[in-house]
Amino acid sequence: MTPTAPHQLITRAYDTAGARAIQDELFALYAEIYADHLSDPFYSVERFADRFAGHSNRSGFRLVTGSIGGALVGYAYGGPLGRTTRWWDGLRDDVPADALVEDGTRTFALNEIMVQESWRRRGIARSLHDTLLGGRPELRATLLVDPDNDPARNAYLSWGWRTLGHLQPFPDAPVYEALVIDLPLPEAAAS
Ligand SMILES: CC(C)(COP(=O)(O)OP(=O)(O)OC[C@H]1O[C@@H](n2cnc3c(N)ncnc32)[C@H](O)[C@@H]1OP(=O)(O)O)[C@@H](O)C(=O)NCCC(=O)NCCS
Repeated sequence: MTPTAPHQLITRAYDTAGARAIQDELFALYAEIYADHLSDPFYSVERFADRFAGHSNRSGFRLVTGSIGGALVGYAYGGPLGRTTRWWDGLRDDVPADALVEDGTRTFALNEIMVQESWRRRGIARSLHDTLLGGRPELRATLLVDPDNDPARNAYLSWGWRTLGHLQPFPDAPVYEALVIDLPLPEAAAS
């Protein structure tokens, strides 16, 4: 396949209402990308839809989609952690207590980022990531990545994310690595 010229990718940002208006498209792309995992209840489309409903309910939620030729090829979304968030509850490592303090404005949680398989390794995830995090008012961002997910983990580490510890968000969820990055993104990452 011919490599994508960056200008072919159209990114677009949505708030909660806008994201929910296109949620069927989002779920369809999720089902395609996670097709090999859908039999695991945690990865089912129903559970994904439940998580999306919760994530998109947060004040400050943002979705960024990437489209090529009018077709959705990827998206990323997240929102700020609230003062009483349970995000850090499943952390298994000792970290300085002040690393886990949330006041509702400190940390943006990147909940999902995905790109259709046939469009990978063209910098699309990077564009979605930079567009979503660019201009955020929070001081830092966090995300959870499966330590065996080499493509995603390599991407995040190369973009400047660092490991805070290991975290299991729900009893039937995998044990993830919790990563953080300071905001605003460094100039090189934000370009
Ligand atoms: C992770 C994912 C979003 C990356 O999307 P992408 O558009 O291919 O990413 P980019 O083209 O922006 O790649 C950025 C960097 O990621 C790393 N990377 C991406 N795919 C990789 C692979 N298969 N193996 C190793 N490193 C990889 C590289 O460092 C790459 O930079 P490079 O191409 O200059 O070497 C995509 O693989 C995906 O959708 N995976 C399934 C969903 C998923 O796992 N999401 C993350 C959940 S935490």
